[in-house]
Amino acid sequence: MRIVLATAAVLAFATGAATAQQSVRTGPAAPELAEGKAVYAHWCAPCHADSMGLAGTNSLTIKYEGTDIPGVLEDRTDLTAPVISYFVRNGIAWMPPFRRTEISDAELAALSAYLTAPLEDRGAHTPLLAEEMAEMEAAR
Ligand code: HEC
Repeated sequence: MRIVLATAAVLAFATGAATAQQSVRTGPAAPELAEGKAVYAHWCAPCHADSMGLAGTNSLTIKYEGTDIPGVLEDRTDLTAPVISYFVRNGIAWMPPFRRTEISDAELAALSAYLTAPLEDRGAHTPLLAEEMAEMEAAR
């Protein structure tokens, strides 16, 4: 019995390692995903980027602790367009609902396409808006 439990623990660990590896990504997103990624960078990354201490990433990391669902939205492969639309239009906890004047239906569709695309097509993790702004400032 002890051996079975130990094997299960090793398997669980191996699965976790595989999931973590999947989230290491580089380069630009596939061209057809660029618009959705830009929407994500502007409206979502400030709370959901790959950095602890952000409201969204923190909450979702705690929510899914012990599961193989990652806390970073950009690393998820379980989201669907209706689920994304629901949260974007209704908000939850500290997440505000976004109006059509902020994120149009077309932009929401592009955002959903990005967040549901195969991980390898999504390119590198979106940087924090603050990092992006610092780079823009430095390039001026
Ligand atoms: C002001 C911070 C903030 C912004 C901006 C924000 N979110 Fe969130 N979001 C959160 C928080 C906090 C939660 C988790 C709430 C909870 O504890 O369940 C969340 C939850 C979600 C969830 C639910 C995931 C789940 O499995 O429960 C989705 C989907 C989501 N956000 C998508 C988005 C998208 C897409 C954007 C950009 C359009 C966005 N969020 C912008 C803070 C934010």
